[in-house]
Amino acid sequence: MSTIAFIGGGNMAGCIFNGIIKTRPGQDKIVVSGPHVDKLQHFADAGASITTDNAAAAQAGEVIFLGVKPQMLTAVLTELAAAKVDFAHKLVISMAAGFVCSGISKLTGSDRIIRIMPNTPAKLGLGVIGIYYGAGASAEDGALCRELLKGLGSLVETSTEEGINVIGCVAGSSPAFMYRFLEALIAETVKRGFSKQEARELIQQTALGMASMCIANSDIPISQLREAVTSKGGTTFEGLKQMTAYKFEEMVAAAVQASMDRTHEFEEMFA
Ligand SMILES: NC(=O)c1ccc[n+]([C@@H]2O[C@H](COP(=O)([O-])OP(=O)(O)OC[C@H]3O[C@@H](n4cnc5c(N)ncnc54)[C@H](OP(=O)(O)O)[C@@H]3O)[C@@H](O)[C@H]2O)c1
Repeated sequence: MSTIAFIGGGNMAGCIFNGIIKTRPGQDKIVVSGPHVDKLQHFADAGASITTDNAAAAQAGEVIFLGVKPQMLTAVLTELAAAKVDFAHKLVISMAAGFVCSGISKLTGSDRIIRIMPNTPAKLGLGVIGIYYGAGASAEDGALCRELLKGLGSLVETSTEEGINVIGCVAGSSPAFMYRFLEALIAETVKRGFSKQEARELIQQTALGMASMCIANSDIPISQLREAVTSKGGTTFEGLKQMTAYKFEEMVAAAVQASMDRTHEFEEMFA
C-alpha cells in the first residue's frame, strides 16, 4: 500500500488516478488537491480524499504526482517548499512537459524525482508512457512508479531528459497530429456524399484496423504493409503520389520539430 498525493487534479492526473484504482483497487490511500474542490468531487466519489490545501496533500503523500500545468509548477513547488514539505522522504513523479529534473530539485531540494510523459489514450489503458528516472530515484522508486502506471498502457523507459521530450512530441502530441489526419479524411468522405456519422465510422474503424495490423505484424516493416495495399498504377498508388508531391514527410518533420522547439523553449523558461 502507498500513500499517494496528486497536486492538481486535471485531465492527466485523473487518467493516472483511474489507472491506479483500476489495477490496485482499495490498495492505496490517495489525496488529490486543487484550487476548486467542486472539480475534484469525482475523485472523492472514487474513494480519494480531496482538499484545496496542496501542502497538506503533499505532506500526506509518500508519492507525489505533480499534475499542474508546467506554467504553474514553479509557484506550486515554491508553496510546498515554504510549507516545509520533506521532499527527501518522498518520491516526486512529474508529468510536466519541458520541466527538467534540475528545475524541480532546485525548488524541492531533492533529486528523488521521476519524470513521466503520458498520452491521452492512457484513459483507455492504451497509452504510451515515457519514464525517465532522476539521479536520486532508487530502483525501488522506479519499480513503484512502473507498478502505479501499468494500467495506463505501454511503459517506455528513456535514459535522457531529451528522450522524454521526444516521447512528449511523438506520443504526447502526435494523437493531435493523427486526429487532424483523420478529420481531413472524414471531411473528404463527407464531401463525397456520406453522412458525418458514416464517414467517421469508416475512418475511425480504418485507423483501428490499421493500428491493429501494425501490432499484429510487428515483425515486418510498416512500409511492407503499405506496399501490400498499393498496386503500381492503381488507385492507392495515385493517392500516395499526391502525398509525395505535397511533401508529406517534410510536413511531418516540420510538425515534430516545431513541437520539439516549443518543448526546448519551455525547458529554458523553467530551468
Ligand atoms: N493532457 C495531455 O495529453 C498531457 C500529456 C503529457 C503530459 N501532460 C502534463 O500533465 C500536466 C497537466 O496537464 P492536463 O492536461 O491534465 O491539464 P489540466 O486538465 O488543466 O490540469 C491542471 C490541473 O491543475 C490544477 N491547478 C491549477 N492551479 C493549481 C494550483 N495552484 N495548485 C494545485 N492545482 C492547481 C487545475 O485546477 P483547476 O481546473 O481547478 O484550476 C487543473 O485541475 C501538465 O504538466 C502537462 O504538461 C499532459
